Amino acid sequence: MSQAVSYSKYGGPDVLEVIDVPEPHAGEGQVRVAVRAAGLNPFDVKVRRGGYIPNHALPSLQGAEFAGVIDEVGPGVTDWTAGDEVLGWIGRGAQAEFVVVPEDRVAAKPAELDWAVAGGIGLVSNTAKRAVDSLDLGPGDTVLVTAAAGGVGVMAVQFATATGATVVGTASEANHEFLRGLGAIPVAYGDGELDRLRAAAPDGYTAALDNIGGDAIRTALELGIPAERINTIADHGAVEELGVQGVGGGRKTAEELAGFARQAADGDLVIPIRGTYHLPDVVAAYRDLETGHGLGKVVLLIP
Ligand SMILES: NC(=O)c1ccc[n+]([C@@H]2O[C@H](COP(=O)([O-])OP(=O)(O)OC[C@H]3O[C@@H](n4cnc5c(N)ncnc54)[C@H](OP(=O)(O)O)[C@@H]3O)[C@@H](O)[C@H]2O)c1
Repeated sequence: MSQAVSYSKYGGPDVLEVIDVPEPHAGEGQVRVAVRAAGLNPFDVKVRRGGYIPNHALPSLQGAEFAGVIDEVGPGVTDWTAGDEVLGWIGRGAQAEFVVVPEDRVAAKPAELDWAVAGGIGLVSNTAKRAVDSLDLGPGDTVLVTAAAGGVGVMAVQFATATGATVVGTASEANHEFLRGLGAIPVAYGDGELDRLRAAAPDGYTAALDNIGGDAIRTALELGIPAERINTIADHGAVEELGVQGVGGGRKTAEELAGFARQAADGDLVIPIRGTYHLPDVVAAYRDLETGHGLGKVVLLIP
């Protein structure tokens, strides 16, 4: 048997359990990975709380991204051997001792890349890159990034600054210094936010990347940003109602993932780890994530 994070009823972090499951094995074209780190994402939470995915079957495993060491290769696998360090993605079930995935769902992990970073970089990078690309940003742009200190936000800030755009990011004061270090202009959210945003970019804004929802889209519209240059990953309703874009995470490739990992290993992409927890402490890990505050990623370390 091996261990995996599971839940058998919808709810908050307390419904999570670490259970024994039959040890999986690699079939044709598959690799088995002994997981060392697995990132947490708000997506896991939305699904676990129920109603987000119609007919989501219970009991369910949890976790969509992982890094670890290949310890079994199935028939027909030619690109990988046991002992290779990789990172990858799976629909559900990454928070486990072992995952089994098709061989093209893993990418080589640079040896110098920290395990926690490797286990938490995939989903947020893919999402942020696709969102930034959707706005076709360039040096003439001033872009508002909301929730700029979150997992997706810090990646969006970096991909946006790389286009030459001026980036203004909302975050709580504690995270302002970090955002300045990435080249962004930090602005505190909350009461008076609109005035502070206007003061931070006196010549105005040309685009927005929303990672929080709520009032963010209306704020962006009030700043004079055209709806078609606003992208949200957190407010599906606004896409229908207000005509903004809703480009988020999507098609992933091992090549893309390898690129993000290489950039992170070279220090060209920074992903702060706000907390690491061991597998038995998965409830505490999700309580941390579900505060909705903090800089960067929460990651489970396994074993
Ligand atoms: N559509 C997609 O494909 C897709 C993909 C990934 C994520 N998402 C969604 O995108 C959202 C963000 O995900 P994430 O992984 O970045 O979450 P996260 O890592 O939990 O980050 C949340 C961030 O929100 C900030 N925040 C809280 N209240 C705020 C407010 N009122 N204004 C501005 N910032 C605020 C916090 O910053 P402080 O610590 O500074 O308060 C924190 O850094 C989630 O809703 C997630 O489900 C969608």
